[in-house]
Amino acid sequence: MTQFPSWPPDIAAERLRLRPVTLEDAAPMARLADDLDIARMTTSIPYPFHVADAESFIARMAAADRAREALFGVELPTEGLIGVVGLHPNDQDRVEVGYWLGRPYWGRGYMTEAVERVLLWAREEWGRAILASGHFADNPASAAVLIKAGFLYTGERRARFSLAREAEAETRMMIWLA
Ligand SMILES: CC(C)(COP(=O)(O)OP(=O)(O)OC[C@H]1O[C@@H](n2cnc3c(N)ncnc32)[C@H](O)[C@@H]1OP(=O)(O)O)[C@@H](O)C(=O)NCCC(=O)NCCS
Repeated sequence: MTQFPSWPPDIAAERLRLRPVTLEDAAPMARLADDLDIARMTTSIPYPFHVADAESFIARMAAADRAREALFGVELPTEGLIGVVGLHPNDQDRVEVGYWLGRPYWGRGYMTEAVERVLLWAREEWGRAILASGHFADNPASAAVLIKAGFLYTGERRARFSLAREAEAETRMMIWLA
């Protein structure tokens, strides 16, 4: 059995736990993220999203460069894994924040809480002074999360390909300064 490193650290937020993702999370991850309304708001989640897709994503993240990439599982103690927050290098050599939450858990402030806690970790423990993010122009919920967490619009709009849409979508780029 492959040993996955304990990265990133296990950290507590107010109601949530942010913790490393392991292969055991592949099934719940696939169950929750196999949802077109999640996949279509991201660039990289395919639809449908199978357990094998989750496994290969988790394995890729376990081998990622810890200086540039991290994946937190978002856990609600009574429920287990309910979503993820990822920090991934983009094509402009910036680290970019991305996330999704399973549909039953939307609208309760969970992702704002998770992103705010990950940003605190990124500043205090990971030594990051700048992080990027972006949301598709038709995703007001994600815009609200990023604004509440302290991201600002750069003014740049990019066309980014969404696997699940099989099309490009206008993306509003944002930046967070520690
Ligand atoms: C985006 C997502 C993570 C939000 O998670 P969440 O836990 O529901 O977010 P929160 O409850 O912390 O905040 C959501 C905010 O969006 C607002 N919102 C939700 N739907 C909205 C809409 N249609 N129009 C405007 N605002 C909306 C909520 O009112 C809330 O803001 P408020 O607290 O100021 O009222 C979740 O909807 C999701 O996983 N969506 C699909 C994947 C995705 O979009 N990922 C991000 C890609 S950039």
